[in-house]
Amino acid sequence: MNASRKFWLTSLFGAAAVTVLTLGFAPVSLFADDDDGDKGPSQKAIAESEAQIPSETLKTPFEKEVPIRFVTSTQNKAAWEKLNDFWSESTEKVTHPKTGKEVTRKVVLIKVPLGLQTPPPVPPENPITVAKFELGKKLYFDKIISANNTVSCASCHNPAQGFTDQSKVSTGISGKKGGVSSPSVYNSAYSLLQFWDGRAATLEAQSQGPPQNPSEMFDGKGHAWFRLIERISKDASYVKAFEESFGHRPTRDAVAKAIATYERLVLTGDAVADRAEIAMRKRLEDSDVPAKPILEGKDVETVLKKAVADKDTKIVEAFVLKDEKAISEVGASIARGKGVFLGKARCNSCHVGDSFTDSDFHNLGVGAKDGKLPEGDLFRFGAQPTGQKNPALVGATKTPPLRQLLNTAPYMHDGSEATLEAVVEFYDKGGNANPTLDIKMRDFEAEKAWLLAKAEGKAVTGPAPFVTADGQPIIPLKLGLTPEEKKDLVNYLKALNGVEAAPVVMK
Ligand code: HEC
Ligand code: HEC
Repeated sequence: MNASRKFWLTSLFGAAAVTVLTLGFAPVSLFADDDDGDKGPSQKAIAESEAQIPSETLKTPFEKEVPIRFVTSTQNKAAWEKLNDFWSESTEKVTHPKTGKEVTRKVVLIKVPLGLQTPPPVPPENPITVAKFELGKKLYFDKIISANNTVSCASCHNPAQGFTDQSKVSTGISGKKGGVSSPSVYNSAYSLLQFWDGRAATLEAQSQGPPQNPSEMFDGKGHAWFRLIERISKDASYVKAFEESFGHRPTRDAVAKAIATYERLVLTGDAVADRAEIAMRKRLEDSDVPAKPILEGKDVETVLKKAVADKDTKIVEAFVLKDEKAISEVGASIARGKGVFLGKARCNSCHVGDSFTDSDFHNLGVGAKDGKLPEGDLFRFGAQPTGQKNPALVGATKTPPLRQLLNTAPYMHDGSEATLEAVVEFYDKGGNANPTLDIKMRDFEAEKAWLLAKAEGKAVTGPAPFVTADGQPIIPLKLGLTPEEKKDLVNYLKALNGVEAAPVVMK
């Protein structure tokens, strides 16, 4: 990954150097210049391909623009319950910012899936409209984004595969293999930082990466983004769509904004676990005896029975629900699994909130052998700005969300765990020892006992732990889960599998 980034930087600076030399001679008209041969695009042409000031006459007028509004089950319960579908057309009365008059315009209401309590954050400079969503969706599925028209965002984040490519590492331009497994785009709108190492702050920043990444979408020739904007600008329908949404021709800024807008609607929720939570709350409300809000088998059973009656195939296929007895057993197992997740296995010390992530970075020792991480696996440490690097975060990756696991195997940043059962076994043994294993993964009692025994010259029982160069033992915290607890935990993880994105979001 580092090598590829270095490669890109060299090629960009190469182009910039050429530009400086030809400055003054290069034609200034936009895109008239091509970057073949040794003469690169002028700096002015590059700047114009990056961003432009909107022209109000090109842009769709305020009253014709169709904004998208998110409606959540918690913040606007009554309105949310009235919506039948993820996508509903409606109208709204608003004050026209230029005339002060009240105008009625169309609006699209998004029924945010159950379990996602807040709307995805939207930056003020990139308001969501239907036209921008459509444009972003077109770009997301269009291979024009890659230098040789062979790869689209969907090639590695395929809606039919849980917005991943279901591979250990992804395959990019000219069959090039990347270094890590492609994470799902589902609910990435909620992530505080993007990528396994968090090197991009927003979806807008993230989407600018792949088109200039030589192992994803870039052939390494010339200026990646300039050439991409040039390709898009040759398509009159694209030019029109950009002008309507942004008030100017295609630019890098606008491509990033449009794609991010599409991604903000790639949402999943409404899992068995979310529905069971509602059933539990209803049980507590209906009961005269005060009870603790703890999920019980019967809460889940209600949900599973309804799924069977509704022929909700995704849910029915995820579990074995052949008869009443099976339904009741699975219901009890999921409820116990939640207890294990929150208790003995303390999974929620990192996987918390609606998306089941603390948006933080932890080293679990994925890929480590004999106390060593694979060469160059710096992750968060590598992405932190110079002057702010935390050595404790060498090899620490972002906690991924857990909502679409049935569609996104294999798991972990290197795709090293093929099944959920294997993931649970990995945690049961405490991950893999290495010098920067996350503090939440370590058995401090055992480490202390080992140090004391060593200091007192006593024989140390058990297998020798991994000891760092400066004498610190690193002993992974074993969970000691029983076979039944492991099965329950896996069932709970399956119960987090949400509904797929609505048809309007899929291709
Ligand atoms: C060749 C495969 C490939 C292509 C093409 C590709 N991606 Fe990715 N994507 C990946 C991989 C691999 C990662 C993880 C990289 C990392 O963390 O270093 C990733 C990360 C992401 C993330 C961050 C998710 C998270 O949880 O951190 C988003 C969002 C994303 N890609 C969207 C896109 C968009 C939008 C495009 C098109 C502009 C695109 N990707 C093109 C493979 C690809
Ligand atoms: C110390 C924080 C932490 C704890 C505790 C933790 N996780 Fe994770 N989890 C992570 C991180 C970080 C990753 C990504 C690791 C990597 O690939 O390098 C991850 C990855 C996963 C994945 C793979 C997801 C994917 O899309 O690839 C699953 C499933 C998972 N964890 C479930 C669990 C379960 C179940 C527990 C409790 C037994 C648990 N986690 C405890 C931080 C944690």
